[in-house]
Amino acid sequence: MTIREHGSQPVRIEQDVVLARQLTRKLASDCGMRLVDLTKLVTAVSELARNTVVYGGGGDMDWEVIEEAGRTGVRLVFRDEGPGIADIKLALTDGWTSGSGLGLGLTGARRLVDEFELDTAPGRGTRVMITRWI
Ligand SMILES: Nc1ncnc2c1ncn2[C@@H]1O[C@H](COP(=O)(O)OP(=O)(O)OP(=O)(O)O)[C@@H](O)[C@H]1O
Ligand SMILES: [Mg+2]
Repeated sequence: MTIREHGSQPVRIEQDVVLARQLTRKLASDCGMRLVDLTKLVTAVSELARNTVVYGGGGDMDWEVIEEAGRTGVRLVFRDEGPGIADIKLALTDGWTSGSGLGLGLTGARRLVDEFELDTAPGRGTRVMITRWI
């Protein structure tokens, strides 16, 4: 796996969700991602970035444009040092929310990307890695 470009975008306040969306749209379109796939990726970013702000108390979106086996991908990591998630299985259940959401953010994001990894524990923060290949 080769990292062609990388960087980090703060995700602290609601406005940063918009910036994270815009950055993702640019990265994906610059590497020639089709509009339909790009839209899926940007939708996943909205959900994960919003969770980072709302539940994680703010964090960062690390981004990479990667190459592996002749294909290009956009890989994003949302990380925060918030309370973490006690029950990962429950959090990945359609319709489960600890707040007043619809409980469809994580599951929706997972369905919209090619790779999804959730790494979290109480008191250890939350890290969600997603990849969409072109
Ligand atoms: N970064 C995070 N830190 C701590 N808890 C999180 C984080 N992201 C998600 N969660 C927990 O997982 C639950 C499910 O998240 P999900 O995004 O699926 O639903 P939601 O945010 O509650 O509602 P929706 O996204 O549909 O508006 C959240 O209610 C919250 O308890
Ligand atoms: Mg959510």
